[in-house]
Amino acid sequence: MSKLKIMVTGGAGYIGSHMTAMLIERGYEVVVFDSLVTGHKDAVSSNADLFVSDLANHQSVEDCFSRYRFDAVMHFASFIQVNESVRDPAKYYKNNVAAGLNLLEAMRKFNTKALVFSSSASIYGEPQAVPIGIDHPKNPLNPYGRSKLIFENMLHDYDIAYGLKSISLRYFNAAGADPSGLLGERHDPETHLIPLVLQVAAGRRKHIEIFGNDYPTKDGTCIRDYIHVVDLCEAHILALEALLQGYGSAAYNIGNGAGYSVLEVIDAAKRVTGKEIATVLSPRRAGDPGALVADASSIKKAFKWQPKYTDLAAIIRHAWAWETR
Ligand code: UFG
Repeated sequence: MSKLKIMVTGGAGYIGSHMTAMLIERGYEVVVFDSLVTGHKDAVSSNADLFVSDLANHQSVEDCFSRYRFDAVMHFASFIQVNESVRDPAKYYKNNVAAGLNLLEAMRKFNTKALVFSSSASIYGEPQAVPIGIDHPKNPLNPYGRSKLIFENMLHDYDIAYGLKSISLRYFNAAGADPSGLLGERHDPETHLIPLVLQVAAGRRKHIEIFGNDYPTKDGTCIRDYIHVVDLCEAHILALEALLQGYGSAAYNIGNGAGYSVLEVIDAAKRVTGKEIATVLSPRRAGDPGALVADASSIKKAFKWQPKYTDLAAIIRHAWAWETR
């Protein structure tokens, strides 16, 4: 039997590169579509084809579909910096919405009917209740979150009108690295808490700034739900298999259901690395909700998804192995 062919947009990025490696290991044929603007060529598995282009170029998206005839798409390609999205919303709407529309149009033209979409907890905005369930009101606080919500709404309309089936996975905080130590997080500039904290531990940064200690949380710092990238990718495989078996469109939260404050993350990183981690208290970062914790019960129920790495120390240990590779 010939292998199923999966297009992974953004497959040279942090989550996309882990996803590509896992898909190949599970017997899929993978084509990574990536502009390499933020992704890294050497993060793409040598067993995947790499098609270097931008989704903004609709002709090349069509060329890619016409060459490979995909069975399904996993769509990771997007810009992800909240601050930048406030300063330059056009960049976010052009890439995360308009370029994404080129992808949907190519899927329509070439009759590819299944898509797993990399959505975000940021579509909910300031939580009205924690943990955040799938039906929580959606009031994104910034253009990044709005771009993800707009794309989810486009998917809804494409299903009704054209029968394109999709599963949107709303990530909380993706973290950790492949246990092999061969893949990990490499953003430039890095803005995420765990890699920054570990760069301080490794002596590559002087200190970690704590963005605010006056939130209404147990120690005043922000609480987030950190989910291991491998658990996140497992959820994508389950979503893909469901779509390929004829499951209808849906959206799910992906998180561990446990919240850790910024100070708890720093403490855990001290224990894992055995290093001192200097901190500096800074003002709140604009647009940061105080606490984001997932209620992921609906994907556990639907697909029997169970995160393996529920322990923050395990997530940090893998990120540390990558950081000190
Ligand atoms: N933080 C610090 N100091 C830092 C960096 C982060 O105190 O130097 C704090 C933040 O204020 C936040 C927590 O650590 O409370 C986590 O911050 P991250 O930047 O690691 O993650 P976010 O929760 O802001 O971001 C997550 C995803 C993003 C996505 C965003 C959307 O990781 O990709 O949600 O809300 F864009």
